[in-house]
Amino acid sequence: MSRQPLIAPSLLSADFARIADEVARVADADWLHVDVMDAHFVPNLTLGLPVVEAIQQVSPVPLDCHLMIENPERWAPGYAEAGSRNVTVHAEACTDPRAVARDIRAAGALAGLAIKPGTPLEDHLDVLADFDTLLVMSVEPGFGGQSFIADVLPKVRRARELVDAGELTLLVEIDGGINADTIEQAAEAGVDMFVAGSAVYGADDPARAIAALRAQAAAAMRG
Ligand code: DX5
Ligand code: ZN
Repeated sequence: MSRQPLIAPSLLSADFARIADEVARVADADWLHVDVMDAHFVPNLTLGLPVVEAIQQVSPVPLDCHLMIENPERWAPGYAEAGSRNVTVHAEACTDPRAVARDIRAAGALAGLAIKPGTPLEDHLDVLADFDTLLVMSVEPGFGGQSFIADVLPKVRRARELVDAGELTLLVEIDGGINADTIEQAAEAGVDMFVAGSAVYGADDPARAIAALRAQAAAAMRG
């Protein structure tokens, strides 16, 4: 069966003074990506669990929480309990990724593992069997609107091979610098889910931007 691209707008590029309206503007997205930053794991601070709980109340789209935080063991299950569809933690921040995945799943969400651009996939292959999503970062985490780092694509290709060979069962997600100029190369490399912040919220019509990105990715996947 052919893969279908999933588009996840990142709320990081939305107007935080009007979050409910901004969520409604991307109602036809597949997942809504929420970047949680703690000013320790990354040099930026965004929002935490109370705000995610409020977003969950108004979002027609399942939440995809990307935790760029230290000590994810302590905090990740709360985001799952809040009703998120997927909760992603950073491999670089986890001491026991398997235990975090188990706790996230036990709290009712899918479990995701994220790797920064410089982090080798091979270092974490052994734990990926316990995860449902793999987030390959294509910018240094911390800020929206950065340029896509194409050097991460070999990691996407390797993950795709392992999934297609039945050695792993997970969605391959990419995050950072995804737009009309970069989404095709990511799709060809094997991405399932595309996070796009500035390309969606920076557009005059976010719904149209989502549809255009989805069509581009689908065409590239068909080859
Ligand atoms: C960066 C975040 C991204 C960011 C992507 O640390 O994880 O989700 O919002 O923004 P764009 O699509 O503008 O690169
Ligand atoms: Zn993100």
